[in-house]
Amino acid sequence: MNGFEKNFHALVVGANGGIGTAICDQLSEMENCISVVNLDRRAYPEFDLRDEQSIAKVTDGFRAKGMLFDLVFDATGALEIEGERPEKSIRELDPLTMAAHFSINAIGPALLIKHLSQIQPRSGRTIFATLGARVGSIEDNQLGGWISYRAAKAAQNQIIKTAAIELSRQNPSSICVSLHPGTVDTKLTRKYATSYRKLSPSEAAEKLLRVLGELSPEESGFQYDYAGIKLPS
Ligand SMILES: NC(=O)c1ccc[n+]([C@@H]2O[C@H](COP(=O)([O-])OP(=O)(O)OC[C@H]3O[C@@H](n4cnc5c(N)ncnc54)[C@H](OP(=O)(O)O)[C@@H]3O)[C@@H](O)[C@H]2O)c1
Repeated sequence: MNGFEKNFHALVVGANGGIGTAICDQLSEMENCISVVNLDRRAYPEFDLRDEQSIAKVTDGFRAKGMLFDLVFDATGALEIEGERPEKSIRELDPLTMAAHFSINAIGPALLIKHLSQIQPRSGRTIFATLGARVGSIEDNQLGGWISYRAAKAAQNQIIKTAAIELSRQNPSSICVSLHPGTVDTKLTRKYATSYRKLSPSEAAEKLLRVLGELSPEESGFQYDYAGIKLPS
């Protein structure tokens, strides 16, 4: 049971990432998932979240082929950008690095919603899910640090909420959420969270797809963790 009553088409953005690859694998095994399209820089070398034209071009290509996606799963994002480790202190803050975090972790998902929601059906259950992070929760912030990544992920949550309101006016059955995948063993965490038990990408993907399957349109606009718990803003 995956929450889609009928057959559905899926698009996975960042399909070459650690979690993205596992999401593609698991979708491919679902009986009612009739197609899974991978959108990443391997399949589309010109694609870049920091370049709106590249997102528009890929979207136009799908539209020209009459492709519609019931599920768009955005598995992109970055913690280290161009070798810059996340800040431990505000004294390490660099405006260009901070802007790069917003570009990839907040504006990127916003542009994906802007363009890819246009190639989602206007009726019936549709989902746009993007990978957020618990550290983007302002209320939950106990430790400080990682200010650029945290701030961009917090902005991503506002983008999701705002877009969810608009998308639900176009299609009351739409769902637009961000998901915290847990601490997952991918290249993003290789140097970090070494003392935590990490989920394997396939464990995380299974849990995240189960959460999506159980969400209703009334729960759109928020961030949920891999157990389906709504996270504080
Ligand atoms: N792993 C965790 O424990 C964890 C925890 C909390 C949240 N998350 C979130 O989960 C998401 C995925 O994480 P992951 O662990 O799977 O990381 P990952 O293995 O590093 O995958 C990141 C993906 O994002 C893509 N990407 C990055 N910058 C891009 C750009 N400018 N244009 C297009 N694609 C770009 C990468 O493509 P390239 O390979 O082409 O760069 C890759 O497909 C991120 O948003 C992360 O913040 C992960």
